[in-house]
Amino acid sequence: MTAPQDSPSEPEPALFTDDLISPTIAASLPPTYILRPLRKSDYAIGFLDVLRVLTTVGDITEEEWNERYDWMNSQGKGGYYIMVIEDQGKIVGTGALLVERKFIHHLGLVGHIEDIAVAKDQQGKKLGLKLIQALDFVAEKVGCYKCILDCSEANEGFYVKCGYKRAGLEMAHYY
Ligand code: ACO
Repeated sequence: MTAPQDSPSEPEPALFTDDLISPTIAASLPPTYILRPLRKSDYAIGFLDVLRVLTTVGDITEEEWNERYDWMNSQGKGGYYIMVIEDQGKIVGTGALLVERKFIHHLGLVGHIEDIAVAKDQQGKKLGLKLIQALDFVAEKVGCYKCILDCSEANEGFYVKCGYKRAGLEMAHYY
């Protein structure tokens, strides 16, 4: 017999399915660290605080968070793969893969790596590297032919360690 939808024994749904989590990378983390897709309840366990090591986040209410999460999980479905590393009930790292669906390259898919952040006290433990490898795994699995990203000169060495190389030039027009 199937359990009812709101049964407490049901695992909380996530932004994407666990089969996109590389078992090899998940197993390579220290014992208490879990690599998994973003969940709505991550609002309460420090997800936004981890992003604050990257840039300004602002004061996002739970209602605003829920609205954005629901959008990504409905209209944005298949485009947003946000991953987290949790350690003992707290988010310690995150990274996102956005999948762009093109007409060129015979309807090619391009992955965009975005918003990589590791909590200050957790940096230098290879969590950033593992997040990138895990996002690359998703990109390949969903059919991207490449992944691209923008970063500062100060982070170039990190992405080189992750297998990325300098290609082109970033330009921006702010509104
Ligand atoms: N420059 C050169 N090498 C670096 C840097 C850097 N800035 N950061 C890490 N490395 C090296 C490490 O020494 C390590 O090398 P090793 O394998 O020879 O020992 C390797 O890269 C892997 O490092 P990790 O331990 O995985 O790095 P960490 O977990 O600290 O994560 C990150 C790196 C994500 C840059 C982290 O420092 C961070 O969150 N910084 C603040 C936010 C930020 O700048 N994010 C990136 C924005 S760009 C974007 O999102 C697309």
